[in-house]
Amino acid sequence: MIKKLENNNFISNFEKSNEYRRVIHGLIPGGAHTYSKGDDQFPINSPAAISHGKGAYVWDPDGNKYLDALMGLTSVSLGHAFEPVLNRVREELIKGSNFSRPSIIEREMAEKFLSLLPQHDMIKFAKNGSVATTAAVKLSRAYTGRKIVARPYDHPFYSYDDWFIGSTDCDFGVPSEIKDMTVMYKADDLSSLEMLFQKYPNQIACIISEPEKFNIIEPNFYDKAIELAHENGALWVMDEMITGFKTDYPGSIKKFNAKPDLATWGKGIANGFSFCALTGKKEVMNLGGIKDENSKKLFLVSTTHGGETASIGAALATMEFFEKNSVVEYNKTIGQYFIDGATKIFYNHKVEEYFSLTGFNWSVGLIVKNQKKEPCMFYRTLFMQEMIKRGVLYQGILSPCFSMTKKDIDLMLEAFNDSVIVFKKALEKGYDNFLIGSEIKPVFRKYN
Ligand SMILES: Cc1ncc(COP(=O)(O)O)c(C=O)c1O
Repeated sequence: MIKKLENNNFISNFEKSNEYRRVIHGLIPGGAHTYSKGDDQFPINSPAAISHGKGAYVWDPDGNKYLDALMGLTSVSLGHAFEPVLNRVREELIKGSNFSRPSIIEREMAEKFLSLLPQHDMIKFAKNGSVATTAAVKLSRAYTGRKIVARPYDHPFYSYDDWFIGSTDCDFGVPSEIKDMTVMYKADDLSSLEMLFQKYPNQIACIISEPEKFNIIEPNFYDKAIELAHENGALWVMDEMITGFKTDYPGSIKKFNAKPDLATWGKGIANGFSFCALTGKKEVMNLGGIKDENSKKLFLVSTTHGGETASIGAALATMEFFEKNSVVEYNKTIGQYFIDGATKIFYNHKVEEYFSLTGFNWSVGLIVKNQKKEPCMFYRTLFMQEMIKRGVLYQGILSPCFSMTKKDIDLMLEAFNDSVIVFKKALEKGYDNFLIGSEIKPVFRKYN
């Protein structure tokens, strides 16, 4: 049941959003093209869609303005409609966007990206991260002649493809034969990985893992983990979709001087444009080549839009800007400023046991807890409701971008402080006296 919003200066006009919500589910299954953008991931008093964005801000169809805390699911690392990127996109657009042979910009990109990665020799482009991770799995299977893929159970997402999604609660539509080919271990735990190799001897084709979901405590973790994989005949795929251009430039691979066989890239590397990539060692990547006569042909990634020029131009401009402006460091400063401010707010209001900040200064997560000090979707939704009301489009993650200033974070902290005050009242009186609509639901679940 939807209760009436109190009448005050907060954002309360969602008329056009509500109309959008009513129509969209009849047109688009899920109402969006990423499940984490869906209506079930937001409180009812939130924008149903975005009309446009500029810098760190976005506007909804009712004209309400928000700070975009998650910056396009972390894909917008510089800012919405960021001029230096748009300039290069415009240059490419007027030259044409897709041809019947590769565009010369593909070579420019291949040479540029690989110059950042001494570990890797070859690159293949994609429009979505899932295409890149699935290509890595396919290559690993072909290279090793094995079927099984191993992935950490405590990392949320690698692909919408069957090999991954069949290993989550959302396995409807995935044949059990495919589900059985993905096995799990605990991330950052070498003994858990070792046990997996013992359980499935000579069967694991690759380990696919994000490099930094939690703090890695074990020294030289990646040297040891990759060696363990190689001793057992498996390849290591480092998925830098989230860490790329955030933990370091180009990513954690450099920070740890890691030498994975393959790596996958997406999200922030093209400032929101659709450019993703698979990079890797020649001996593996070249299986997708056509020059070794008489070797088996592997149909690696082959998509009509993989070489589309505007997005490649966007990625090149993004890289140029990162290199000239120390963006990684700047974004971390912004994230740290938020962490320090939010921590102070928790202590000021004596609620530090009801909130936890997770992640890192390049991506700051938030856990909201109930009276029992357990993570709770109802209180989390209430907190988001209060933040959105105050002009911060917040899903519990801050993904800093170059267009965010400390002043923007001050405004976010002001909203955060006031939302904590409401949260405190709700702890006393119950969330149901404050929460307007339904609670948000987990993305990976068996039933709607
Ligand atoms: C770690 C990781 N890998 C892969 C993907 C898939 O990327 P895409 O949504 O572009 O297909 C995601 C998306 O959230 C991700 O977080």
